Amino acid sequence: MSLTGSPNRPLETRSPAPWSADSWRARPVRQMPVYPDLERLAAVEARLRRYPPLVFAGEARRLKASLARVAEGRAFVLQGGDCAESYDDFTANIIRDTFRVLLQMAVVLTYGSTVPVVKMGRMAGQFAKPRSADMETIGGDTLPSYRGDIVNGPAFTAEARVPDPTRMETGYFQSAGTLNLLRAFATGGYADLHSVHRWNLGFVERSPLAARYQDLAARIDETLSFMTACGMTAETAPQIRETDFYTSHEALLLPYEEALARVDSTSGDTYACSAHFLWIGDRTRQLDGAHVEFMRGIRNPIGLKVGPTTEPEDLLRLIETLNPANEPGRLTLISRMGAEKLEARLPRLLRAVQQAGASVVWLCDPMHGNTISTSHGRKTRRFDAILGEVRGFFEAHAAEGSWPGGIHVEMTGQDVTECVGGAHRLTEADLGRRYESFCDPRLNAEQSLELAFLVAEELKARRQPTPAAASAAAASVAAAE
Ligand code: PEP
Ligand code: CO
Repeated sequence: MSLTGSPNRPLETRSPAPWSADSWRARPVRQMPVYPDLERLAAVEARLRRYPPLVFAGEARRLKASLARVAEGRAFVLQGGDCAESYDDFTANIIRDTFRVLLQMAVVLTYGSTVPVVKMGRMAGQFAKPRSADMETIGGDTLPSYRGDIVNGPAFTAEARVPDPTRMETGYFQSAGTLNLLRAFATGGYADLHSVHRWNLGFVERSPLAARYQDLAARIDETLSFMTACGMTAETAPQIRETDFYTSHEALLLPYEEALARVDSTSGDTYACSAHFLWIGDRTRQLDGAHVEFMRGIRNPIGLKVGPTTEPEDLLRLIETLNPANEPGRLTLISRMGAEKLEARLPRLLRAVQQAGASVVWLCDPMHGNTISTSHGRKTRRFDAILGEVRGFFEAHAAEGSWPGGIHVEMTGQDVTECVGGAHRLTEADLGRRYESFCDPRLNAEQSLELAFLVAEELKARRQPTPAAASAAAASVAAAE
């Protein structure tokens, strides 16, 4: 990078090439379905272009401002939800349960970090999936891979696997329905801090690790009672009964994203209006590729997955392209190294970003680098590896003096059996009981809360000097006297 930036000081001095919502079409594009009927595709795109936006620019700007506080080390992010939402699982209970667990996790993390927690669901639009192969072979048959419900169907039949553009419209309407319910929950009383805490107490009671979690839960209890005594109740303080909740997904299916891009009438800028926050996946982050091209021009806060093959130089060029004005809150880097590779790969990236003076949010996705195959051919993830990657992430930031901005997890509010380990010690033999993901294995409700409690413990411990550090500090003061 040519310049050493500081927040809002440009990183890029050359003037960028012209951008339009369709300029990605001139670039090499990966992971794109091949639609057999282009006229039908064009008709769906034309309809989507006329539909109302799902979110509006002001909300995206508000989220960007919250993320700017994370970039400055004054807030923490919790981003979570399904690997892929499904058209069959479009029910109030499923949406409610995921939302509830995210709120429960957020309360615990707020207590652990002592800073506000910005909440983002992988919800209301997380439908498109990148695949490692275009085709899938089972037995003697080869068919196009399943690319998420917004593209084709999961059943292994020729009919289901044909990419169908009308699925984009279904995705739009399902997102609208999900978002409507999320907004109602977030502001209509369901998110009341006292209820969320009561649910957490229920979780602690049921957990085999109850004794370990009791202390943190009791401290939150005490804090809430203190707040009530000070007159901060659901009636007097909206922060007690309401919350901000944002939606996010991978911006993979560009015809859909382009059709939902809108020019904001107040600023004249273009916003992606399919969600508040979009991210670029690890397989589509080529500097000259279509996905980076589309994302550089929209003004939402955006994310970039950073996997173990990312070289510091490439990352700096991507940062320069995606956030040339070095605007705090604009760019979130989502590290997904894998517990074993993190130590070798992440610190040098943290260093390069810091040395360049780039303002970014760093999140830890401890899921995508820790996927393994069981002997039954199922995908799973070990709870310990997930926790190990989060710990490694905190350690790397502590060593480099940067802020570990939050976590990004694949989870559900349901009692599924997809990841092994956790307090209930799920084993590979349990996976057959309730494995429902069509894609990657998710933490279930209990495992998600457990992760939040353990991360909160970690955050709390990092805030307090260890006895060794405290006595070293005392010794150095004494030596100076
Ligand atoms: C995802 O977040 O669902 C995903 C596919 O991640 P990645 O791009 O990091 O592999
Ligand atoms: Co996934």
